[in-house]
Amino acid sequence: MIHSILEKIGNTPLIRLREVTRGLPEKVEVYAKIEYLNPGGSIKDRPAYRMIREGIRSGNLTKDKTIMDPTSGNTGVAYSLIGAALGYSVELVCPENVSAQRKDMASSFGATFSFSSAMEGSDGAIRLARKLKAEQPDKYFMPDQYNNPFNPQAHYDTTGVEIYEQTGRRITHFITGIGTSGTVMGVSRRLKDYDKNIKTFASEPAEQLHGLEGLKHMASSIIPGIYHPEILDGVMPIRTEVGYEMAERLAKEEGLCVGHSSGSNVASAVEIAQGLREGVVVTILCDHGDRYIPI
Ligand SMILES: Cc1ncc(COP(=O)(O)O)c(C=O)c1O
Repeated sequence: MIHSILEKIGNTPLIRLREVTRGLPEKVEVYAKIEYLNPGGSIKDRPAYRMIREGIRSGNLTKDKTIMDPTSGNTGVAYSLIGAALGYSVELVCPENVSAQRKDMASSFGATFSFSSAMEGSDGAIRLARKLKAEQPDKYFMPDQYNNPFNPQAHYDTTGVEIYEQTGRRITHFITGIGTSGTVMGVSRRLKDYDKNIKTFASEPAEQLHGLEGLKHMASSIIPGIYHPEILDGVMPIRTEVGYEMAERLAKEEGLCVGHSSGSNVASAVEIAQGLREGVVVTILCDHGDRYIPI
């Protein structure tokens, strides 16, 4: 028995990938953390819940305020679900081309929207949210997921610990894509605190104009305040079509229906694994593929 759906955030399963890794040496294992099994359907439930809890704890988030943040979609669904469960109103700022499924899902939890230009991508949403907050500072609680240290801290305290334990403390390599960079920063810090020999990598879209929704091409983006690439062992570029192809294979060969950033994560993990003789490589399945099926 549970008292709130929020109790089901985190503690997601780790799955060994056996089909898309065919041909790798016997002693190289690749695992993926199934983050789409969080109640809001993505990894963003973890940081969203933590940033809201910290807002309440610090007194910055009170019942008369609206939770408002720029989000490409998944964090928005997470805020909406958590806001509904805790009794806070939510306003999401996102590019107007955000997927219909995520918009509808956030709306079903009672969230409202402000839209920025599709041409400006996630940076346009960041700029519009800052403007809204500056105009009406008392109306809004803005978690500011790109700069809030509790975003990576959520992953330091939960995702990183779970991965280390679920691999029987054998993990040697970790890789995931950069959106806010909260996941890669928090998990990397935790793993390296456990064992400084664990190698961690970020993957980012190879092209400025890419189709990997949720991920940022850093050279042409507003750099998140929480992003510190110097703690990583490297940043790997990934092409859009490689992410799409792997997402399709994961559904057809492993029964894992995932979004394109998960596809690019697994493709990058396999690329790392191909260079090893022995090792335990872990990546993240960020969200479910049903969010990308056109309606
Ligand atoms: C689909 C998807 N994949 C990956 C990410 C990246 O996660 P992070 O913000 O922790 O870097 C996001 C973040 O918004 C996302 O929506």
